[in-house]
Amino acid sequence: MKPGYSLMKHYLQFKDLRAEEYAYLFERTRIIKTRFKNYEKYQPLVDRTLAMIFEKASTRTRVSFEAGMYQMGGSVVHLTTGDSQLGRAEPVEDSARVISRMVDLVMIRTYEQTKIERFAAHSRVPVINGLTNEFHPCQILADLYTYIEHRGDIRGKVVAWVGDGNNMANTWLQAAEVLGFTVHVSTPGGYEVDPQVAGIGDRSCFKVFADPLQACRGAALVTTDVWTSMGYEAENEARVKAFARWCVDSRMMAAAAPDALFMHCLPAHRGEEVAAEVIDGAQSVVWDEAENRMHVQKALMEYLLLGRIG
Ligand code: CP
Ligand code: NVA
Repeated sequence: MKPGYSLMKHYLQFKDLRAEEYAYLFERTRIIKTRFKNYEKYQPLVDRTLAMIFEKASTRTRVSFEAGMYQMGGSVVHLTTGDSQLGRAEPVEDSARVISRMVDLVMIRTYEQTKIERFAAHSRVPVINGLTNEFHPCQILADLYTYIEHRGDIRGKVVAWVGDGNNMANTWLQAAEVLGFTVHVSTPGGYEVDPQVAGIGDRSCFKVFADPLQACRGAALVTTDVWTSMGYEAENEARVKAFARWCVDSRMMAAAAPDALFMHCLPAHRGEEVAAEVIDGAQSVVWDEAENRMHVQKALMEYLLLGRIG
């Protein structure tokens, strides 16, 4: 490990950073992305190592962190439950103590948020949430950057959430509270967001709608996610029945603002939570959104390891 930023910060949920830190991160993202697009080398993390621990599957999170770290001059170590002692019941606290003596940064994708919190409490280095049952802050960071890139400031705008009251929905609520916008949430009965689980203090940052079409009215951004998240596969049959009306289609997009964007964290299921005409249509920015995972996470890793640049 190299000496770095003296005030260690973890990124376990969206509200771990303040609005002015997000403004800084979005500006760093713009600079880092521009350099990347111009084939300019930018390697502030030479000799730094990121450990990535996956207890659930991933395509985007793995590729974006791994490619991003290499581009910044660092290296990565990839661990899964199946190929490490994590799958053989080594306590998470012991794993944290050991891994964090050897690397500079840890990203974890796991089940309960409490697990990543226990890891962070025993880690000598910053820990990043790469998705838990409760939150997915790196994804919302990318979504917000994508919105800003296409449309500018999100403050005061309406984001429509159509679907499960899951990790993505919870993180949108935290983002609304931190950055000052409103989320119109429509979920089937029994799958509502729980403000306590979402960890928000101000309930005025979201409004609940029984009808997904009404939630989309006037929205600047319409977004959704799979009906069945990882870890909930046993509920799939019941969910397919309950969520049938929560498919973002062209009627919902027509109810939104004329210049509304569509986002989905991916992977998507066309014909379930989103109609093909929407995700493959002109208002969809899902490919920019996926690419931006890498750019925002490069800015995040730079910030957690080096603090503010300049
Ligand atoms: N959106 C997202 O986190 O994708 P992966 O599950 O492929 O990492
Ligand atoms: N809500 C989904 C997001 C996948 C990126 C899940 O947790 O499986």
